[in-house]
Amino acid sequence: MHAVGAATHAFAGKGELYQELAAEMDALLAGEGDGIANLANAAAVIFDRLPDLNWAGFYLLRGDVLVLGPFQGKVACTRIEVGKGVCGTAVTQRASMRVEDVHAFPGHIACDSASQSELVVPLMRDGRVFGVLDLDSPRLARFDSDDQAGCEALAAIISRHLAVTPPA
Ligand code: SME
Repeated sequence: MHAVGAATHAFAGKGELYQELAAEMDALLAGEGDGIANLANAAAVIFDRLPDLNWAGFYLLRGDVLVLGPFQGKVACTRIEVGKGVCGTAVTQRASMRVEDVHAFPGHIACDSASQSELVVPLMRDGRVFGVLDLDSPRLARFDSDDQAGCEALAAIISRHLAVTPPA
């Protein structure tokens, strides 16, 4: 076990962290039917548990505009048009956007000047995008394919809990 290389060890550690986080997220959201309460706690647990983040939260689709939802971090822009920025591009492409250097992304919208890299994952319900999970980091290339897979799993859990009918 101690003979594994650093890279292998880091990979295993990250997988474990996302597995734990997924279980924690599922348990955290299961007891509550209110969407805002669940998005607020989801942002808090992600911001608390994932290292090297300066912003974690949600934008929700209202017509053709993404509107700021619950988040942790500095004050952010409240509206992003579909197709604009990293968030709006994730909506049009219906796919996660992993940006190693936000300054190299044409049209990136800078909310916090400390942000260097970004991961945006669409929230889907019945095959339609209804918002995004957005993570910013002050570290270049903070997010790798394991983070993308882990956050896509978290986004699926969050979307599922938002889709359930609140308990009476
Ligand atoms: N950088 C995002 C804007 C939202 S903030 O990062 C919180 C974008 O380009 O869409």
